[in-house]
Amino acid sequence: MEIIIKKDYHRMCGEAVKLIHQSWQKKKDLVLGLATGKTPLGVYEGLIRLYREREMDFSEISAFSLDEYLGIPDEHPQSFAFYMQQNFFQHVNFKNENIFRLDGLPDDIEAHCYEYEEKIRMTGGIDIQILGIGRNGHIGFNEPSSSLSSRTRVKTLTQETIAANTPFFLDKKQIPRYCLTMGIGTIMESRMILLLASGQEKSHAIRQSIEGPITATIPASILQLHVQAKIIVDEEAAGQLERKSYYRWVYEHKDNVDDFLADKKTK
Ligand code: PGA
Repeated sequence: MEIIIKKDYHRMCGEAVKLIHQSWQKKKDLVLGLATGKTPLGVYEGLIRLYREREMDFSEISAFSLDEYLGIPDEHPQSFAFYMQQNFFQHVNFKNENIFRLDGLPDDIEAHCYEYEEKIRMTGGIDIQILGIGRNGHIGFNEPSSSLSSRTRVKTLTQETIAANTPFFLDKKQIPRYCLTMGIGTIMESRMILLLASGQEKSHAIRQSIEGPITATIPASILQLHVQAKIIVDEEAAGQLERKSYYRWVYEHKDNVDDFLADKKTK
């Protein structure tokens, strides 16, 4: 894992945008896995800016959504499909056929989840998965105790999530009780994972995920087993990390290894 500590939310998002842009320069048909929530909004804004400045083109990029509420249609303002459309897709030039979403109203849940995984495989797999993290360490809707090798499936929402959603639904009968989410095993197959966390409220989950044991109780701790997981946090989210100065040291020096070696060879 690489731990990248940035001064504030803006710089944290900028780092993720830079990494995505660099990957796109090498592979124009990048496959992205996209998360909702407030954390990645700055990343989508940064990518939209690159598109407007003609620095980036999305016509060959594919996108897969990480999760979706079950029981509400795409056009519902609380659906993740709506969020992605409003905050990202409608502002850049994705082709419709390259946008893949979990359907909140599938005919057959199991078949839909299976087909979603098939689609990920058929595009060649996710190159970069963007993740947020819950205060309890969840990734996607994989709440504590989710199997660390789980696949895309239906999950029962926690009572806290249902309570938090209640104000957003005028029709209380529409409040979702279930969701679909990529599994932890699915997420782990992505070539690169960018997990972002901002604010003091995430600092405990970040510390447990990075410096604690790998455990289904903290789903994000599984990223310790991923060869290309970058945890990008702001100062507040890094607040409880014990080895903060070491992470900074590594980040500052990692790009100098070629110069270091060249220097040794000429001596
Ligand atoms: P947030 O959600 O970005 O809105 O904090 C993250 C999550 O719960 O996964």
